[in-house]
Formats: sequence, structure tokens, C-alpha cells
Amino acid sequence: MRLSHFETLKPLCPRCLRRGAESPLSLASVWKEQGGVVLEGVLHCPEAACRSEYPVVDGIPLLVADLRDFCTRNQLSLLGRADLGPELEGLLGDCLGPGSAQDSRNQVLSTYAFDHWGDLDPAPAPGGSPGAVRELLGRLLDLAGSLPAGPVLDAGCAAGRTSFDLADRVHGNGGALVLGADLNLDLLRLAQSALLGGRAAYPLRRAGIVFERREFAVAPPHSDQVDFWCLDAAEPPFAAGTFGLAASLNLVDCVASPHGHLAGLERVLAPGGRALLCTPYDWSGGVTAPENWLGGHSQRGEWRGDPAAVLRSLLAGGGHPAALAGLRLAAEAEARWRVRLHDRSSVVYAVHLVVAERA
Ligand SMILES: C[S@@+](CC[C@H](N)C(=O)[O-])C[C@H]1O[C@@H](n2cnc3c(N)ncnc32)[C@H](O)[C@@H]1O
Repeated sequence: MRLSHFETLKPLCPRCLRRGAESPLSLASVWKEQGGVVLEGVLHCPEAACRSEYPVVDGIPLLVADLRDFCTRNQLSLLGRADLGPELEGLLGDCLGPGSAQDSRNQVLSTYAFDHWGDLDPAPAPGGSPGAVRELLGRLLDLAGSLPAGPVLDAGCAAGRTSFDLADRVHGNGGALVLGADLNLDLLRLAQSALLGGRAAYPLRRAGIVFERREFAVAPPHSDQVDFWCLDAAEPPFAAGTFGLAASLNLVDCVASPHGHLAGLERVLAPGGRALLCTPYDWSGGVTAPENWLGGHSQRGEWRGDPAAVLRSLLAGGGHPAALAGLRLAAEAEARWRVRLHDRSSVVYAVHLVVAERA
């Protein structure tokens, strides 16, 4: 956690925020620090009735409201070993078999690390070309036109490359700080390792449960402007109006409450700020309860179950009863997003790109 980001963004206690109270966190202890970056430490909520503690692990502050539940579900990522050689890791992967927690973690890492960083791999991998999400971000930035000043939030940043792209894009625009935020610790660690260690290391899925470890140097531009935190993009723990720009790339259909996520962006954007949204509306009942989907059901209703129509209706003037009065549709487009699964398999989504302006 960069001290510059902590001091500028002034994160709030996520637990207090749930009950509508804004309590800025304090940095209580630093156990390991390097050049203005807290690697291990703890943040405290000063509110007498709360006093919650939030750890900083490997440079990543864990700013989630229900920390016990989060840690319980992420024990492997928090406390598991990261020092095994690739051969032994592969052998243990064979023993665990497909569908194991390790297999699932590796698949997620493989997919997003490849797309975000694979263009810098000196030994390009088979199975398509990386950079799909970066192209989507480029299109959204072009659609958005001139960019507002102020810090930038990259919600659901995954392996972090888009956060560096955003830093590059806003560099001439006052050099705003960029915060990459996600709930996946494995991906955040990868992003932090690119940031602080100048290396990208990840398992690339070749076939079945065969993963090949890739490791190479990276030097993303303006990395002193970028940081990565673990937080819920549906409850961003910041004061209203903190950010000038917020990207939500392929995230809307990955959160429990898409409306809550959009409302969170509305709250933390400053007047005149922009939200850059991109989504394939690939709903899954296990992640988002169907009643929270935007479309994808109720084909007899006003929007005929069309997710894009529901999103439009939720933006100011769109006519939805739960419309977000503070977000106005500024521009939209359609695009393709290709996601690599393994050497011989990819999924191609048709994604909806939307630029919304904070009224
Ligand atoms: C489909 S991936 C897209 C990643 C990246 N933006 C891209 O397009 O390559 C969704 C990402 O959102 C993260 N995510 C899911 N729910 C989240 C939440 N509530 N808050 C923050 N991140 C979340 C996931 O861990 C994952 O990295």
C-alpha cells in the first residue's frame, strides 16, 4: 500500500460504511515497509463503537467489511505456499485433479494474466493474442473524450495491466493516482509483483490440468502513480466524490449486486466524473441472484429481458424505478472480448461498452 495513495484517497472503514457512517481509517502499525510502500501492517477504524482492524498483506490492504468471512474463504491465498518449484507444483496439481481449489485458482490466473501481460512474454503462448481488455479500455477512453481530473479507480482490475494503462492515459492530465481494486488476492499479488518487483509470474494453462509457469520482466509506465488494494467494488470504501474516473471492465456481471456496484460508482465519482463500463452480461446464478441481474429474465416485461436496455434504463432519464439519478448515459458501443481458456480454447463475448457521466 503506497502511503501516497493512502493519504490521498483516505479510505473509510468498510464496516462503518455499511451502516452509513464515514470513518476514515488510520495507519496503526507498519511492520514491513520499503520506499514509501507498506508491505505488512494494520489499518484501524478510530470509531469507538467499531475499532475494526484491516491487515496489509504483501502490500495489499484488505478493506472488506466482513473480514472474517473473507479470510476464511481465502485461506489458501493468504497462507498457502508460494515457494514450490514448477515441477513439484505440477505433480501436486495432478494429485489434486481437475476442479480442485488450486486448479480453479490457476485457471483464473492463467486467463487474466495472459490477457493482461502476455504481450510482454518473450516466448509467446499459443491460443490467441493477449491484450483484449486493453483494447476495450482504449475504445472506452476514446468514447469518453477529454478526461476529468482526479484519482482513477480500476474496479475489478484483476492482473492490473489496465490500471497501468489508465495511469499512462491520464499522465498528461495532471498525473492522477490510479487505484486497481479487486477481491482476488492471487491476481492482486500478481499485479503488486509487476508494480513493485517488475516481474509477471503466473501459471499458463496449456491443456487439462497442465499449467506451464511463465515468468518475465515487465516495466509498466508511471508505476509510481499506481497501487492495488483488495476491496469490494459494490461497496467502495471512499468518501463521496473521491474519483474523477472509474473503470468497471467486465465486472458488472461478476458482483452479487450489479445495481449496488453502479450505485457505488455513482457515489464515489465527483461531479463531471466518468464511469467506463464494459460487460458481456454473462449472468451466473451462483454469483448474482437472478433477481439482481440486469435483464436476463422477465422477457414479458418492459425491457423484454434485454440487459443492455435495462442498463440504459438505470441511467438518469432511463425510466427505471431504481434509476441512478446521478449517472447519465454519455456514449455506448458494442465490441468483442476474447478470453483464453487454454491452448485450444477461447470464448468470445459480445460486450456492451458504456460511458456514463456523473451529473
Ligand atoms: C471477469 S473478470 C475481469 C477482469 C478485468 N477487468 C478484465 O477485464 O480483464 C472480473 C474481475 O472482477 C473481480 N471481482 C469480482 N467481484 C468483485 C467485487 N465485488 N469487487 C471487486 N472485484 C471483484 C474478479 O476477481 C475478477 O478479477
